Amino acid sequence: MPQYSLYINEKEHQVDVAADTPVLWVLRDHLNMVGTKYGCGIGQCGACTIHLNGNAVRSCSLPVSAIANASMKITTIEGLSESGEHPVQQAWIEVDVPQCGYCQAGQIMSAAALLNRNANPSEDEIKNAMSGNLCRCGTYTRINKAVALAAT
Ligand code: FES
Repeated sequence: MPQYSLYINEKEHQVDVAADTPVLWVLRDHLNMVGTKYGCGIGQCGACTIHLNGNAVRSCSLPVSAIANASMKITTIEGLSESGEHPVQQAWIEVDVPQCGYCQAGQIMSAAALLNRNANPSEDEIKNAMSGNLCRCGTYTRINKAVALAAT
Protein backbone atom coordinates (compact mmCIF):
# COMPACT_ATOMS: atom_id res chain seq x y z
CA MET A 1 0.00 0.00 0.00
CA PRO A 2 1.23 3.51 -0.68
CA GLN A 3 2.54 5.61 2.16
CA TYR A 4 1.15 9.11 2.52
CA SER A 5 2.48 12.10 4.42
CA LEU A 6 -0.37 14.11 5.86
CA TYR A 7 -0.28 17.49 7.60
CA ILE A 8 -2.81 17.37 10.39
CA ASN A 9 -3.09 19.76 13.31
CA GLU A 10 0.32 21.22 12.47
CA LYS A 11 2.13 17.88 12.60
CA GLU A 12 3.24 15.52 9.86
CA HIS A 13 1.79 12.00 9.99
CA GLN A 14 2.69 8.96 7.86
CA VAL A 15 0.04 6.41 6.99
CA ASP A 16 0.00 3.27 4.82
CA VAL A 17 -3.47 3.07 3.30
CA ALA A 18 -5.17 2.56 -0.05
CA ALA A 19 -5.42 5.73 -2.15
CA ASP A 20 -9.20 5.85 -1.96
CA THR A 21 -9.41 5.51 1.84
CA PRO A 22 -11.64 8.31 3.15
CA VAL A 23 -9.79 10.77 5.38
CA LEU A 24 -12.43 10.10 8.07
CA TRP A 25 -11.15 6.52 8.48
CA VAL A 26 -7.52 7.55 8.33
CA LEU A 27 -8.17 9.93 11.23
CA ARG A 28 -10.23 7.51 13.28
CA ASP A 29 -8.66 4.11 12.54
CA HIS A 30 -5.05 4.96 11.80
CA LEU A 31 -4.32 8.10 13.80
CA ASN A 32 -6.68 7.60 16.74
CA MET A 33 -8.29 11.02 16.25
CA VAL A 34 -11.83 9.97 17.04
CA GLY A 35 -13.32 13.42 17.62
CA THR A 36 -14.39 13.47 13.97
CA LYS A 37 -17.57 11.41 13.70
CA TYR A 38 -19.10 9.04 11.18
CA GLY A 39 -22.72 9.85 10.44
CA CYS A 40 -23.88 8.94 6.94
CA GLY A 41 -20.66 8.24 5.05
CA ILE A 42 -22.04 9.82 1.88
CA GLY A 43 -21.44 13.52 2.42
CA GLN A 44 -24.96 14.35 3.56
CA CYS A 45 -24.92 14.97 7.32
CA GLY A 46 -21.78 16.97 8.21
CA ALA A 47 -20.80 14.87 11.25
CA CYS A 48 -17.37 14.25 9.71
CA THR A 49 -16.56 17.91 8.97
CA ILE A 50 -12.90 18.94 9.23
CA HIS A 51 -10.95 21.88 7.83
CA LEU A 52 -8.82 21.72 4.71
CA ASN A 53 -6.75 24.92 4.58
CA GLY A 54 -9.33 26.56 6.85
CA ASN A 55 -12.38 25.54 4.82
CA ALA A 56 -15.02 23.06 5.98
CA VAL A 57 -14.89 19.74 4.10
CA ARG A 58 -16.48 16.35 4.61
CA SER A 59 -13.85 13.83 5.52
CA CYS A 60 -16.07 10.81 4.70
CA SER A 61 -16.00 11.65 1.01
CA LEU A 62 -12.44 12.96 0.75
CA PRO A 63 -9.89 10.34 -0.38
CA VAL A 64 -6.57 10.38 1.42
CA SER A 65 -4.70 10.69 -1.88
CA ALA A 66 -6.29 14.13 -2.38
CA ILE A 67 -4.66 15.61 0.72
CA ALA A 68 -1.21 14.00 0.64
CA ASN A 69 0.60 17.20 -0.15
CA ALA A 70 2.40 19.68 2.10
CA SER A 71 0.11 22.46 0.88
CA MET A 72 -2.96 20.61 2.21
CA LYS A 73 -3.31 21.48 5.88
CA ILE A 74 -5.92 19.52 7.77
CA THR A 75 -7.39 20.66 11.08
CA THR A 76 -9.62 18.38 13.13
CA ILE A 77 -11.64 19.15 16.23
CA GLU A 78 -8.62 17.99 18.27
CA GLY A 79 -6.50 20.71 16.64
CA LEU A 80 -8.97 23.58 16.68
CA SER A 81 -7.49 24.90 19.92
CA GLU A 82 -5.05 23.66 22.54
CA SER A 83 -7.57 23.32 25.37
CA GLY A 84 -11.01 24.22 24.10
CA GLU A 85 -10.49 27.97 24.18
CA HIS A 86 -11.50 28.61 20.56
CA PRO A 87 -14.31 31.25 20.56
CA VAL A 88 -16.73 28.77 18.97
CA GLN A 89 -16.01 26.16 21.64
CA GLN A 90 -16.41 28.78 24.37
CA ALA A 91 -19.75 29.92 22.89
CA TRP A 92 -20.89 26.28 22.68
CA ILE A 93 -20.28 25.91 26.40
CA GLU A 94 -21.92 29.21 27.27
CA VAL A 95 -25.07 28.45 25.27
CA ASP A 96 -25.02 24.79 26.42
CA VAL A 97 -25.62 23.64 22.85
CA PRO A 98 -25.26 19.84 22.84
CA GLN A 99 -27.98 17.37 23.59
CA CYS A 100 -26.66 13.90 22.66
CA GLY A 101 -23.49 15.57 21.37
CA TYR A 102 -22.76 13.25 18.45
CA CYS A 103 -22.88 15.86 15.67
CA GLN A 104 -21.25 18.65 17.66
CA ALA A 105 -17.65 18.30 16.46
CA GLY A 106 -18.86 18.68 12.89
CA GLN A 107 -21.08 21.59 13.84
CA ILE A 108 -18.22 23.37 15.60
CA MET A 109 -15.86 22.84 12.65
CA SER A 110 -18.43 24.25 10.22
CA ALA A 111 -19.03 27.24 12.50
CA ALA A 112 -15.30 27.91 12.88
CA ALA A 113 -14.83 27.74 9.09
CA LEU A 114 -17.65 30.25 8.62
CA LEU A 115 -16.00 32.67 11.06
CA ASN A 116 -12.65 32.17 9.29
CA ARG A 117 -14.11 33.63 6.12
CA ASN A 118 -16.74 35.96 7.62
CA ALA A 119 -16.02 37.33 11.10
CA ASN A 120 -19.43 38.98 11.42
CA PRO A 121 -22.06 36.83 9.67
CA SER A 122 -25.73 37.79 9.54
CA GLU A 123 -28.42 35.48 10.90
CA ASP A 124 -29.14 34.26 7.36
CA GLU A 125 -25.46 33.70 6.63
CA ILE A 126 -25.18 31.61 9.81
CA LYS A 127 -28.26 29.57 8.87
CA ASN A 128 -26.95 29.02 5.35
CA ALA A 129 -23.46 28.05 6.47
CA MET A 130 -24.79 25.61 9.07
CA SER A 131 -27.60 24.16 6.98
CA GLY A 132 -25.51 21.20 5.81
CA ASN A 133 -24.88 19.97 9.36
CA LEU A 134 -27.72 17.83 10.62
CA CYS A 135 -28.62 17.40 14.29
CA ARG A 136 -30.99 14.54 15.15
CA CYS A 137 -31.78 16.21 18.49
CA GLY A 138 -32.80 19.43 16.74
CA THR A 139 -30.53 21.83 18.63
CA TYR A 140 -30.48 24.25 15.71
CA THR A 141 -31.72 27.26 17.68
CA ARG A 142 -28.89 26.91 20.19
CA ILE A 143 -26.34 26.19 17.45
CA ASN A 144 -27.25 29.38 15.58
CA LYS A 145 -27.24 31.37 18.84
CA ALA A 146 -23.76 30.06 19.74
CA VAL A 147 -22.36 30.89 16.31
CA ALA A 148 -23.69 34.45 16.64
CA LEU A 149 -22.19 34.70 20.14
CA ALA A 150 -18.79 33.46 18.90
CA ALA A 151 -18.84 36.14 16.21
CA THR A 152 -19.27 39.02 18.68
FE1 FES B 1 -19.64 12.58 6.28
FE2 FES B 1 -22.20 12.33 6.98
S1 FES B 1 -20.46 11.19 7.70
S2 FES B 1 -21.30 13.87 5.73
